[in-house]
This record gives sequence, structure tokens and C-alpha cells, in this order.
Amino acid sequence: MTDTNTKISFTPERLAKAKEMIARYPDGKQKSAIMPIMHLAQEQFAWMSQDVMDYVASLLDITPIEVYEVATFYTMFHLEPVGKHVIEYCRTGPCVLMGGEEVFSHLKNKLGIKKGETTADGLFTLKEVECLAACGWGPCFQIREKYYMHLNNQKVDEIIEELSK
Ligand code: FES
Repeated sequence: MTDTNTKISFTPERLAKAKEMIARYPDGKQKSAIMPIMHLAQEQFAWMSQDVMDYVASLLDITPIEVYEVATFYTMFHLEPVGKHVIEYCRTGPCVLMGGEEVFSHLKNKLGIKKGETTADGLFTLKEVECLAACGWGPCFQIREKYYMHLNNQKVDEIIEELSK
């Protein structure tokens, strides 16, 4: 493991965790730890800037492009600065059938932003994503590890008010 990026670095605790994750894999297979390390990085830096991705690559002794490929494939990695709460709402069929379009249109109006945008106060970012694997509980969205399900306009209002405190 090399740590050559001087601008970006994990906290000592995160670095220890990253090393422990990398050590789970045999020599030469350290790239297998890429996803958990990227999650660790996003947890600390909020979004995957090029410097952050390069740092992850240096930790894993892989080329930066290998990190860019993963970051641009999975929607859970943020490629631009985001707000404090990133609301990832499901746009896939079953959630739409359960009223998702109306609920998420209400959400956009309430926040005054469109998908991909962040509120002026930096509190909320809206991301449209594919199925969150909670189809039976739609419409739903995810904020970090927490799922919000069976959403309706009233629930959306309550969640936004709670998170705005
Ligand atoms: Fe929305 Fe699967 S369709 S969670």
C-alpha cells in the first residue's frame, strides 16, 4: 500500500480500517477491497473528487482509472459536491406504480430543486436512482443507509421537516 497523495488522506482511524480491509484479500488481489474503501472515502470526504479517487487508487496500488470506472458505474458514489442529506429516490417501475412520480414531484417542489441539484442552504441533494430493492415497500428513497418506505406527500413533509432541524 502506498499513500502518495499529500492533499487527501484518511484519518488515522479510517486508514487503519482501510488497511484491515485490504488485508482480507490475498497478495495481488488488494483491488477486491475497492468498494468498501470507496465507501470509507465518501464517508469522510462527502464526494468522490478526482483527488479522492486518486488517493483510493494509491492505497490499493492500482491505476486511477480503475477507481474512476467503479465510481462512474454505481450511482451511490457522488461525483460532484453534495448536500448534507443526499436523497436517492427510486424511479423504477414498481415505485412509479405505487405513486412515486407524484410523491417525488411533491418532494422536488417542497425542496425547490430538480434531480441532481442541491438546495441553496446545502442541506439536501436529490438523486434519481434505479431500483433500491425495496419494491414491495414503495415508493421509497434512501438517505445514506436508511430507507424511507411507503412514502406519501405527508410523510415526505415530515421527513424533510425533521431533517431540516
Ligand atoms: Fe423502487 Fe424497486 S422499484 S425499490
